[in-house]
Amino acid sequence: MPNKIINKVVIWDLPTRVFHWLLLASYLLAWITYADNRFLYFHVFVGYIFFGLLIFRLAWGFIGTHYAQFRSFAQDWSSVTEYLKGLINGKAMRYIGHNPIGGYAIFAMLLLGFIISISGLLTLAGEEGHGPLQGMVNYSVGIASHSIHEILAWVMLLLTIVHVLGVIVESIWHKENLVWAMLSGQKEAAAGTSSIQGHHLLALSISMVVIIVTPIYFNGYLKETADKLYQPYKGPVLPDNASWRENCSECHIAFHPSLLPARSWQKIFNTQHQHFEDDLDLDDETITELLKFHLDNAAEKELTEAARKILYYTPENVTPIRITKTIYWEKKHKDIDEAYWKHDKIKIKGNCDACHLDAKEGTYEDSDMRLPELE
Ligand code: HEC
Ligand code: HEC
Repeated sequence: MPNKIINKVVIWDLPTRVFHWLLLASYLLAWITYADNRFLYFHVFVGYIFFGLLIFRLAWGFIGTHYAQFRSFAQDWSSVTEYLKGLINGKAMRYIGHNPIGGYAIFAMLLLGFIISISGLLTLAGEEGHGPLQGMVNYSVGIASHSIHEILAWVMLLLTIVHVLGVIVESIWHKENLVWAMLSGQKEAAAGTSSIQGHHLLALSISMVVIIVTPIYFNGYLKETADKLYQPYKGPVLPDNASWRENCSECHIAFHPSLLPARSWQKIFNTQHQHFEDDLDLDDETITELLKFHLDNAAEKELTEAARKILYYTPENVTPIRITKTIYWEKKHKDIDEAYWKHDKIKIKGNCDACHLDAKEGTYEDSDMRLPELE
């Protein structure tokens, strides 16, 4: 250790510390909630927090206090090699801010975080039809972004592990608790090193803006009602038709036209006299109107995620007449316990509204799926 340690100084300002721990929290929550579609909206919500934190950190890297500024932890190449040599010889220099390798690791993590956030927004827009980029990208872009999002999330996990190992090694090496330093902001330093000058007013102004703007943007996001645990976004309002509601909801719910390709509806209406076990026996005028409504709003119009995906997974030479026989539907429902299909409220697969609160609207939002209680 090059200098004699004599005093404790503040190195990490409060905003940097709050950023650090909130970033970790949102990151962990995003990992916990990514696998189950029902938590998708929560995942997206913490994703926004994660992204917001990164934007703050980017700004703070320029206007923040000394050790939080990017230029203080972007060291030249010789310091990096020197530090590496020190590590190998067991004489690594102690840095009061980030060590040269740590500094670059932080840059890498910030950059990764940004790409993960943006690819997440692209996935949300392309696959789900939601979020600020909604309508700007198509489904294929959504799928591609999804892969990038996932792969980079793993890369970031790896980097996080390296970062934590680095912290442990350095803490042992220099006999100081770096985790505590990131909590208290304080480190021991040689004489002459002074505490940072906090940017209190700046930090306070940024916090105020965040506190005011966030609830406005997310208004209604987490509102609870009796039948919805939370109302994420308002899904698209799909085209409706009175004759469709009247003629197609007698024996089962009226399946929205967006759930099958146009050719399927053509076939269903062509064979209206052998409609499964029934004869629809509709007059020509009604058939014409209904067919038009179905063709105008068929899956090809990609009105919802369900529409896009049903179409995407249906081979062009296949004309399904059941939604429940489409590849996408089967794929999505294959893991549901047999007991549910025998349940009084369900019995047939076409009873979509037994499990999807928004079945009658036709949107099939992930957040509106609720399996009924089995007793
Ligand atoms: C007289 C009763 C009756 C009426 C009215 C009716 N259906 Fe059906 N429909 C059935 C039956 C029975 C089934 C088969 C249910 C089962 O076995 O899953 C069915 C199934 C379907 C399916 C396939 C559901 C699946 O499993 O994916 C579609 C699509 C469908 N009907 C569309 C329509 C449309 C469009 C209309 C309005 C023009 C309509 N139905 C009106 C009786 C009816
Ligand atoms: C027994 C309950 C049940 C019934 C009945 C049911 N579903 Fe589902 N559905 C589920 C579950 C559970 C999931 C979630 C699967 C997952 O997250 O991977 C799901 C997922 C979906 C999805 C995918 C949502 C998304 O965005 O990823 C669509 C679309 C869908 N169902 C449509 C339908 C339609 C149309 C019907 C009726 C023809 C239907 N479901 C009937 C339980 C049901």
